[in-house]
Order: sequence, then C-alpha cells, then structure tokens
Amino acid sequence: MTDTAAPTSGARDAQPEHLGHVIFIAAAAAMGGFLFGYDSSVINGAVEAIRDRYDIGSAALAQVIAIALIGCAIGAATAGRIADRIGRIRCMQIAAVLFTISAVGSALPFALWDLAFWRIIGGFAIGMASVIGPAYIAEVAPPAYRGRLGSFQQAAIVVGIAISQLVNWGLLNAAGGDQRGKLMGLEAWQVMLGVMVIPAILYGLLSFAIPESPRFLISVGKTDRAKKVLEEVEGDKIDLDARVGEIENAMRSEHKSTFKDLLGGSFFFKPIVWIGIGLSVFQQFVGINVAFYYSSTLWQSVGIDPSDSFFYSFTTSIINIVGTVIAMIFVDRIGRRPLALIGSVGMVVGLALEAWAFSYDLVDGKLPATQGWVALVAAHVFVLFFALSWGVVVWVFLGEMFPNKIRAAALGVAASAQWIANWAITASFPSLADWNLSATYIIYTVFAALSIPFVLKFVKETKGKALEEMG
Ligand code: GLC
Repeated sequence: MTDTAAPTSGARDAQPEHLGHVIFIAAAAAMGGFLFGYDSSVINGAVEAIRDRYDIGSAALAQVIAIALIGCAIGAATAGRIADRIGRIRCMQIAAVLFTISAVGSALPFALWDLAFWRIIGGFAIGMASVIGPAYIAEVAPPAYRGRLGSFQQAAIVVGIAISQLVNWGLLNAAGGDQRGKLMGLEAWQVMLGVMVIPAILYGLLSFAIPESPRFLISVGKTDRAKKVLEEVEGDKIDLDARVGEIENAMRSEHKSTFKDLLGGSFFFKPIVWIGIGLSVFQQFVGINVAFYYSSTLWQSVGIDPSDSFFYSFTTSIINIVGTVIAMIFVDRIGRRPLALIGSVGMVVGLALEAWAFSYDLVDGKLPATQGWVALVAAHVFVLFFALSWGVVVWVFLGEMFPNKIRAAALGVAASAQWIANWAITASFPSLADWNLSATYIIYTVFAALSIPFVLKFVKETKGKALEEMG
C-alpha cells in the first residue's frame, strides 16, 4: 500500500450530498467521547470529599481513582467483539446504559467498595465509547471528510473535560466551597458524579437516531440497508454496487474479527497492530493526563493560590479546545502525519521548558518568579501542541488505519493499550514527582522526541484513502 494508491470506485471523490446529516451522525456518535472526557475528569472535583468521607490515605484514594482506568482497558478490549457481533449502534446503547447506571451508583454509594465498583462500570463504558466512536465515525464518513469527522470524537472529549470542570466549579461554589456541602439533599461531590446521567441518557437517545454502519450491515448480509446508508452519507453520485462490492471484497467472507486475526509475524501481533499500540502509548507517555489530572498540584508549585488553581486548569482546557479546532481544520488538508510531527516538535519544546523550570529549587513550596512563569506558559504550549496533533490524530488514525477485517479488534487492543499507558503515567506521577519533578518532565520530553522517528519510520498517511485501501 503506498500513499498514492488509487481508490477502486472513486470513493475518494464522493461528495456528501447530505453533509449536514453526516455531521449530525458523527456528532451523535461523538457523544460517547463527551462522556469519556466528562467521566474521566469529573472525579477530580470529588477526590477530597471521598478521602474525607471514607477516611482513607493517599495510596488507597489513588487506587479508587485509578481503578476506573482498568475498567476502561477492559471495556476497550471487549468493545470490538461486541460491535462485530451485535453492531455498532447496539454497542453504543450498551455503553449508554452502563454510563447511566454508573452515574447513579457512584452518586449514591453505600460503601467505598461500592463506589469503586461503579467507577469500574463507568470505566468499562468509557473504554467502550473510546473504541466505538472512532470506529463507527470512520466507517460512515465519506473519505474526503473522514479526518475532520473523526476528530469530532476528540473535540467531544475535550469539551467533556472542560464542562466537567465548569460543572464541578459551579456545584462547589453553590455548596459554599465545600465538596461535602449540601445540595439538593446530597453532598456536592455526589451531585457532580450524578449529573452525568443527563449526557448518558442523551447519548442513548441519539443512538436511536443514527444509522448502523454500512460495513457492519454488509458483514451480516444486509446489503440493501447498507446501500441506503451509503447513499445517505456519500450521495447518490457514487456507484453503490461498486462500493458494496469493494467493501465485500475487502472483508472477504470473514467479518467477525477475533484476537487470532491480529496475530502474525515474528513479534506476536501483526506489525500494523504494533503501530496502533505505539501511537497509543506515545500519546499517553508524553504525560498529557498529568496536565489534566494533577493540574492543581502543578499550579500550586508555580506559586498560584489553591483557590485560583481552578481558573488555570480551565484555561488549559480552553487551550485544549482551541488546539483541537486547529487540528480539525488541518487534518484533512495537510494530513495526519505532518500534524503529528509538528505537534511532537512543539511538545518537546514545552516539556523541555517545564523540565528546566522545575529543575530550580522550590522556595516556600514555590518556584522562583521567572521559572514559575516559564512553567505556566510551557504547560499551555505543551497542551496546545498536543491538542492540535496527537490528541486528534491518534483517535482518527486508530479509527481508520486498520484493514476492515481486523478494524474493531485491532482498535480494541490499541485503545486498551492506551488506557493501560494512561494508568501507568497517572499512577506513577505522584511518586516520580516526589523523587524529581524535573527528571519526570525529562522522561516525558524523551518520549515526545522519540515519537518523531516513530512516525517517520512506521506511520503511513491515511488522508483521503477509502477504508478498503488500508492494510
Ligand atoms: C486524548 C487522550 C486522553 C486525554 C485527552 C486530553 O483524548 O486519549 O487520554 O485525556 O486527549 O485532551
């Protein structure tokens, strides 16, 4: 497969006649991304209350928080199989139900283990949503718009993170600044976790309004329905029979991808699966979630008052949204690879500056003024470059880079590697930071730098190609 391979049915040139409808479909599917962002970051607003209510130390607290990420890894690993068996839409509906019950369960826990249990269930739903969103969008989007529509997932994730910060802040203020303050008969942190039922129900409802993926329909022999969906999204100027034939060919007779289909070559998995895992691991090993999960700690060492740290965490989220919009504009124009490379260079600069700033000794728990400012600006530069590149590009790549036959299963493995990598970084940060914050940032800088040769050597451009050309 080369970058210049010609499509077999003119799919690349297909203009969606119903672009508005396609945008609605992608946006509805991306609601799973919103819940992913919201649910994974909402817990930040509840941490102190949970520590206080259950009288636990930092280590136990970290476990209760990190356990959701294990649920995410399991959800991501199984979503592909569920989606191949019962369809992409049913898979979204299961995730929506799990999001809903986990929101209610974690808002009303009767014991710490009960809370942990509901967080795992919520994590499972996040993992499912992280796989099904990109896979479904890549499968329904016309090739010319696939990158931009695929980036809806990341856009929804970053908006979800920002909204959870705003909601937490609003509820905290309403409860008089105390996470355990009373609101509507509950404690504020319970309301924070419970509010998630609203987007969860909306996600479930929206999933009834969008069509099943044509690739799935073809795989279960519902060719006529698949044609209708293809016409709905790619317009009626394309040769529908040729399109269906092309998809059928690419799938051959086998469609239910299993773990076995991913194996091959001398290194257990097929090379393409390793490339997906590599993209996922690099996306996490640059330390992006340290910037989101531990932001208050960082701001305080820069000298910012704890009461203002919400504001700076929120500015990071806004920068994250701005970067995502920049990526959405460019992902189909200049392509995924150039964006990833530009982002890696910018992240190296931001992270190296943070490493430099934190190499100075703290005086009264704070950095000297100049270094403090450098750390603050560098953190925003890092988030901006992450958002305009790896944040969007990795989810788009994972949705589209694998051949049809193994897409769902391969995406599941790559996404679950991502959740494990996220867990490794999130769980190790407090100890690494206690050891040496500057050295910790040097580690993240090294991973950002290594991502450049990784992309240059292993990652192929997917811009504008039909999914049937991947592999
Ligand atoms: C990507 C990452 C996720 C991170 C987010 C931040 O979606 O996969 O872990 O929280 O970007 O914007």
